[in-house]
Amino acid sequence: MITKTRVEQENLVQFTTTFAVTYGAKRVSGDKMPALFLFPDRWIPLMPNTRPNWPYPKLIAHRGAGRHAPENTLSSMRLGASHGYTMMEYDVKLSKDGIAILLHDDTVDRTSNGSGSAAAKTFNELALLDVGAWHSKAYAGETIPTLQSIAAYTLANGICSNIEIKPCSGTEAETGRQVARLAQALWADADAPPLLSSFSELALEAAMQAAPDLPRALLLDGEPPSNWQERAQRLKCMGLNLDHEYTTPALVQSVRQAGYTLAIWTVNDPARIQELFDWGCDAVVTDEVASIKPSTFMPAT
Ligand code: G3P
Ligand code: MG
Repeated sequence: MITKTRVEQENLVQFTTTFAVTYGAKRVSGDKMPALFLFPDRWIPLMPNTRPNWPYPKLIAHRGAGRHAPENTLSSMRLGASHGYTMMEYDVKLSKDGIAILLHDDTVDRTSNGSGSAAAKTFNELALLDVGAWHSKAYAGETIPTLQSIAAYTLANGICSNIEIKPCSGTEAETGRQVARLAQALWADADAPPLLSSFSELALEAAMQAAPDLPRALLLDGEPPSNWQERAQRLKCMGLNLDHEYTTPALVQSVRQAGYTLAIWTVNDPARIQELFDWGCDAVVTDEVASIKPSTFMPAT
């Protein structure tokens, strides 16, 4: 049972919540714990968290369960969910004819039985590829998913999404615009909007213009630039998604003090994940969905 008290402050709406929810095998209850609020018309009692401005789970499955199943496929999402993961990160780009699909690389070579640039193939051509056999026999015959199909699966199963906009070179603005527009339509009635992130600031800028209400995170690879705050501010980001090898306590403190959320990628060592949470990071992206259990990082009851 959850009761809400609405408190309005500038652009934010915060609900103070008295809650008692069941999460996995755990019964979690509390008094006046803040539960969300960057999105005035929606609130998300998904998971109590000590940080009021991070409305998502603390652990995120990378490329679905992209190590144990073929990355960025429906099977990888299902496998991540079977291990208790309630948020998935996945990479989205456009086919030649503008269909939003899940694929990490610019080419299909590594993760399919085909070859060549994804941006040079129509969706009908991409749909004929086997994107599972390269991983293992169990997944032979897997087909490339559309963003639409992943939205259907995640929404039907209460799973949150971190959509990484991963444009093929030269299509940054178009990809940002189309993915954001489509995400806005697909998640229109969702409790939790997808978090859009990208290494491409051109893509994030286009996403901001196309769907300003969807939350965005600036994705950074390597050492964060000294002007990270100016960049995040320009793109009206809610947070930064940082490379864990360059995440330090001082950086976490600065980012938190500046009011941004912090999701850290890609961490496969439980001790390191705990350390990042101890420093105040909001979420961690991991490949190790079989051995690292989300319940380990839930608050004590
Ligand atoms: O979004 C976090 C992480 O996925 C970024 O790197 O190369 O795995 O897409 P990559
Ligand atoms: Mg990614």
